[in-house]
Amino acid sequence: MFQEMAVFTGNAHRDLAEAICRHLEMPLGDCEVFEFSNEEVFVRYLDNIRERDVFIVQPIVSPVNTRLMELMIMIDAAKRASAGRITAVIPYYAYGRSDKKDQPRVPVTARLVANFIESAGADRVLTLDMHAGQIQGFFNIPLDELTAFPLIAEHFRQKNLPAPVVVAADVGRAKLAREIAGRLGGDIAIVDKKRDGNTDHAEALTMIGEVEGRDCLIIDDEVLTGGTVASAVRLLRSRGASSVRVAFVHPVLAEKAFTVLDTSDVDEIVYTDSMPLVHGTFKNVPTSLLSVAPLIGDAMHRIHTGGSVGALFR
Ligand code: R5P
Repeated sequence: MFQEMAVFTGNAHRDLAEAICRHLEMPLGDCEVFEFSNEEVFVRYLDNIRERDVFIVQPIVSPVNTRLMELMIMIDAAKRASAGRITAVIPYYAYGRSDKKDQPRVPVTARLVANFIESAGADRVLTLDMHAGQIQGFFNIPLDELTAFPLIAEHFRQKNLPAPVVVAADVGRAKLAREIAGRLGGDIAIVDKKRDGNTDHAEALTMIGEVEGRDCLIIDDEVLTGGTVASAVRLLRSRGASSVRVAFVHPVLAEKAFTVLDTSDVDEIVYTDSMPLVHGTFKNVPTSLLSVAPLIGDAMHRIHTGGSVGALFR
């Protein structure tokens, strides 16, 4: 067993790290993480962490490359300070969409980031709803991937929508849609999405499933420009859906997303606090923010005490 837990964070999402610590009823550790005027990152732990079970909470969010570098340097500093074990807690794993070589001469950056994290000295990773489950295999150290979709499903269950249709925003989310529909006693629909080359433009071409007169819930792992979801909303409305709600875990939300999604065609938007909002909030559509802090905190406690993380979802 390691000595007590110690939780630290860089500059990615202090509010989430503090909420996790409140849930765990322990203080957030003291650590300086700042940039010199030449943009080099400096890190110094201000608490003794020798032999401690150290958790570094740092989603890889905007500015992505700086926050990634902060994480690497925090891991390195913890290693050199003789931490007993280092767990990188990464609620949002950026570069997840670059997870395969699907065109000539392109990188697999999700794998490269995994190599960075391991080389820096992390012993474990705890993450949440990665873009694709297979990214787990890019790591040769233990990795626990949590999911916020049971929270999202519970949010909708409490609304008692009669047999809603859970809509996968693209084919990759079909299995997830089926699971959520099972929890809500609903049906599924699957959107066939096409992306234009390497641009941000995505279009819902067609859909499998009946939505006329039904309450629909579009689900996705993340929303960036909102193009994927906005296009699915248009398709659902054109096929006679009576209401359209949108739920995703990671609110990456570029400025454009607020233009295309904050419309009367959308009845509700639901997302989590896995990452901070950079470009404001939705003004017109009712929005629900679900906190993943208790889920992540419980998983960290189980990792520390050798409990089952899988049991959190049973
Ligand atoms: C892609 O496969 C992802 O699951 C999301 O659908 C995508 O990242 C959303 O991006 P955007 O909001 O820019 O369409």
